[in-house]
Amino acid sequence: MKDATVVVIGGLSGIGRAVAERAAEEGARVIAVGRRTAPADWSKQIETATLDITDEAAVERFFSKLGALDHLVVTSGPVIASSRLTDLDVSAAKDAFDVKVFGQLRAAKQAARYIAKTGSITLTSGLLARKAVPGALVKATMNAAIESMGKTLAKELAPVRVNVVSPGMVETGMWGEMPEAERKAMAAKAGGGLPVGRVGQTGDLAQAYWLLMTNGFMTGAVVDVDGGGLL
Ligand SMILES: NC(=O)c1ccc[n+]([C@@H]2O[C@H](COP(=O)([O-])OP(=O)(O)OC[C@H]3O[C@@H](n4cnc5c(N)ncnc54)[C@H](OP(=O)(O)O)[C@@H]3O)[C@@H](O)[C@H]2O)c1
Repeated sequence: MKDATVVVIGGLSGIGRAVAERAAEEGARVIAVGRRTAPADWSKQIETATLDITDEAAVERFFSKLGALDHLVVTSGPVIASSRLTDLDVSAAKDAFDVKVFGQLRAAKQAARYIAKTGSITLTSGLLARKAVPGALVKATMNAAIESMGKTLAKELAPVRVNVVSPGMVETGMWGEMPEAERKAMAAKAGGGLPVGRVGQTGDLAQAYWLLMTNGFMTGAVVDVDGGGLL
């Protein structure tokens, strides 16, 4: 992986940032991509680029300007409120799909034109793909779509490997703004119900993305990193 080029879309925060930092530590050239600017404590080792994954032309321009790459990781995901079917805002659901499902599809499509045959694409779903929870319809269907996409692309894009990471509850900004004490209480409550006794940290997830980038025998896999949340 020394000097391999790794693109992490969603890499400016949360899980994606941990993946970008892990790959940079291992000596890769890393480009972290998203709509926001880099945070104040950003590592100079990691390049950044601005991209809205819902803008097909911009995604195409980004990859054609970059040229050759070895690994693509996509962690982009929308913030979406829970809602039962009767109260569902279909327009908001479509917007969420545009980021999480079609965004990952656009990125994979454009990256596939330039990615090394020995390279990989790692997409991101979520535990709700396979755990039925009332009110989580949009997350469940988006995540299930991504898991299916990963398996189909693993065959279509072979020998490029395509895998999916499915996170459980991971403490990131996706939980929303809240006072530190409230965040800790929420993490303790959610983690207490899991076999491992805690919620996930971004480093737990970065290990799984790293495994999928570097293990040349893994393709079409969905790796659950959820502290046993699916059990
Ligand atoms: N945290 C959890 O408990 C959990 C559980 C299950 C699944 N997941 C999944 O894990 C992934 C990472 O989430 P996270 O927890 O790390 O939260 P996060 O820090 O909020 O990461 C989400 C990323 O998506 C990017 N994004 C959103 N809209 C975008 C767009 N239109 N174009 C480009 N990038 C966009 C955001 O960057 P910009 O705003 O800069 O664009 C942000 O960096 C998501 O797909 C999420 O659904 C998380």
